[in-house]
Amino acid sequence: MKAAFIEKHGGPEVLKYGEMQDPVAASGQVVVDIAAASVNGADWKVREGKSGQLSTFPYILGRDFSGVVSAVGVGVTDLKVGDEVFAVCDAGQEGAYAEKIAIKASIVAKKTESLSHVDAAALALAGLTAIVSIEDTLKLKKGETILIQGGAGGVASFAIQLAKHLGARVITTASAANHDYLRKIGADEIIDYNAVDFTKVVKNCDAVFDTVGGDVAQRSFAVLKPGGRAAFIASGAQAPKPERDDVTALRPSVGRDRPHLERIVELVAAGAVRLPEVTLYQLSDAVAAHRVSESRHFRGKLVFKVR
Ligand SMILES: NC(=O)c1ccc[n+]([C@@H]2O[C@H](COP(=O)([O-])OP(=O)(O)OC[C@H]3O[C@@H](n4cnc5c(N)ncnc54)[C@H](OP(=O)(O)O)[C@@H]3O)[C@@H](O)[C@H]2O)c1
Repeated sequence: MKAAFIEKHGGPEVLKYGEMQDPVAASGQVVVDIAAASVNGADWKVREGKSGQLSTFPYILGRDFSGVVSAVGVGVTDLKVGDEVFAVCDAGQEGAYAEKIAIKASIVAKKTESLSHVDAAALALAGLTAIVSIEDTLKLKKGETILIQGGAGGVASFAIQLAKHLGARVITTASAANHDYLRKIGADEIIDYNAVDFTKVVKNCDAVFDTVGGDVAQRSFAVLKPGGRAAFIASGAQAPKPERDDVTALRPSVGRDRPHLERIVELVAAGAVRLPEVTLYQLSDAVAAHRVSESRHFRGKLVFKVR
């Protein structure tokens, strides 16, 4: 099979495209012929070695994908060859920038016909992360106000729509070029973070969901009301420590399972979440896709159309 892989840590140019060995379905696994795979913010961090040093090369990046089951391992009874599926790789496993992947069947979900492979790949990890953060971790409720940092990104765009669906009021941050997009997906108030300091104009939030990290994450505690809670996905494995003791800092634990993927499908089918804006790449263009991803200033999702 063809794949995009790295042979060492480094800049985007270390991504190569070439022939790799076909995977085989072990017990409990299926092999999926990948039709589309998405680029996630984590990918360039893994490539650079910012998420720890890899010891085995060549290494195929990529955490989510959509495709068709082409082989079924021993013990798999709920999926069969020909099923259209999508998934997020298990924690510690990657390899979606490829024509094929072997993956635990229990974390794979069926794709509905209304979703294209490109859409399903675009929604998988971003949707899973947004659902775990907004519903499971922050437990956002109707009538609450939430500040979602980095609104135009893949995870945050999904989170904005989910928060609105739950009946919350949503404030978000983005550069001016993305404000129309965010208004269309339902944000109630949009702050141009290049022109306005959000801590000066936002206060008394019940919740914050930060997808930006760094200084933005740390300063987000200031907008919470006493008893407020904040969830962080761009500050590493731990949530930053608040400088006040009347708020809660949370690091969502984004596990992999089938029910959360089915929740993505359900939210899209209900019209609660719209499909993200997608920019398509070929696997052989992984270098270009990574340059855009690590610039951190684009809208929606970058997706490889693999076949
Ligand atoms: N399981 C997990 O824990 C998990 C899963 C998925 C993602 N993540 C992490 O979550 C983060 C978000 O990922 P993503 O893929 O959704 O998006 P991303 O590609 O990392 O971010 C892109 C967006 O960030 C916005 N942005 C950049 N700087 C900003 C700032 N200072 N204030 C407001 N917005 C800003 C940009 O919008 P503008 O152009 O408008 O600036 C752009 O739309 C990444 O760090 C990723 O690694 C974690």
